[in-house]
Amino acid sequence: MAKITVSTLKKMKEEGRKIAALTAYDASFSQLFQDNGIHVLLVGDSLGMVLQGGTDTLGVTNQDIAYHTRCVRAGAKDTFVIADMPFMTYSTVTDTCKHAAELMRAGANMVKLEGGEWLYDSIKALTIQGIPVCGHLGLTPQSVHVFGGFKIQGRENEQANKMVQDAQALERAGAQLLVLECIPSALAERITQSVSIPTIGIGAGKLTDGQILVMHDLVGISAGYIPKFSKNFLLETGNMPAAVKKYLDDVTSGAFPGTEHEFN
Ligand code: KIV
Repeated sequence: MAKITVSTLKKMKEEGRKIAALTAYDASFSQLFQDNGIHVLLVGDSLGMVLQGGTDTLGVTNQDIAYHTRCVRAGAKDTFVIADMPFMTYSTVTDTCKHAAELMRAGANMVKLEGGEWLYDSIKALTIQGIPVCGHLGLTPQSVHVFGGFKIQGRENEQANKMVQDAQALERAGAQLLVLECIPSALAERITQSVSIPTIGIGAGKLTDGQILVMHDLVGISAGYIPKFSKNFLLETGNMPAAVKKYLDDVTSGAFPGTEHEFN
């Protein structure tokens, strides 16, 4: 498979070809994901929950993400890798640039930040200095305590309109990709149509430009809670490479997610 870049992802949106992404944290799984054609890997701060056993993502440090980004890059030399910027590592423009540079040096192709218009200056500074940015709107887990739990976002009109404005502001600032998490499908479709950058959904329905799952959800080993938007691909395939391939096929064909995985 040809190396994926930000230009490939943009072209996929323009041509209506779906992007399949997974979280990854180590070399072995990253290599498996690369070998089975996954387009994008995210070193998510979800590692605070699925690897470290935390109840949220707030305990994750930039060092943690840099370490796992190195592991992922070692296993997937040719795949597009996004590194998450942890809680409170992008509060000021200076902090943002310093921490993002550490993640790029660890092997990332792009960094991801949670939040809307308030990130405008930071995203502008990053892109001017050569660091590609992925935005993240909707249920942004670093704000779980402000939301009062892991709750669907954007159900009220005012909040939905603000999210569309935020998406457009992130694009104007220079973001080249956008994750939409746990929002109504109609809103995800509206945002996807109102920006020219690709959107990647998780719990955002099938009308985004691509999908992402936490890898533990793909194989049904998320401790305790099984999110409505996830699917255990291991159940129907019986082995790990086949599960990854089935996920890729179902995302690219539009078979996943189904209506049973979406929110209204
Ligand atoms: O940290 C993460 O894994 C994420 C995905 C859920 C998009 O941000």
